[in-house]
Amino acid sequence: KRILIINGPNLNLLGVREKSIYGDQSFDAYFKSLQARYADQVELTYFQSNTEGFIIDKLHEVGFSLDGVVLNAGAYTHTSVAIADAIAAINTPVVEVHISNVHQRESFRHHSYLSKSCKGVILGFGLDSYRLGIESFI
Ligand code: DQA
Repeated sequence: KRILIINGPNLNLLGVREKSIYGDQSFDAYFKSLQARYADQVELTYFQSNTEGFIIDKLHEVGFSLDGVVLNAGAYTHTSVAIADAIAAINTPVVEVHISNVHQRESFRHHSYLSKSCKGVILGFGLDSYRLGIESFI
């Protein structure tokens, strides 16, 4: 299977930012462990952007060819009608993931514009949320 992980804004700072919420592992290190773990089953790639339009461009680029996208849109989850529309526009199924359990946090994190257009949602399992997203496609 061909699966892309997309990380949105501030997720390039994993391992540095708010460690009590997001943990102390960098995403690069975690991503390498995922690639190794699924090497014989998944062609796994990774894209990160802090810019809404670049996330939309990437969804359009891969959205008619890949088997799945695992998307953590960060704070755009709670604001972006445009990313929701992009998910609805493409054929590739998207699984929404979050590291933290957003329902235990501020109320503005409780609503996702994206969930309606996603195949499913996985949240609250730390970085393992991404792995569970990959498993859902396998
Ligand atoms: C997050 C949760 C969002 O509310 C937040 O803005 C993030 C990360 C998570 O993975 O827990 O940047 O998507």
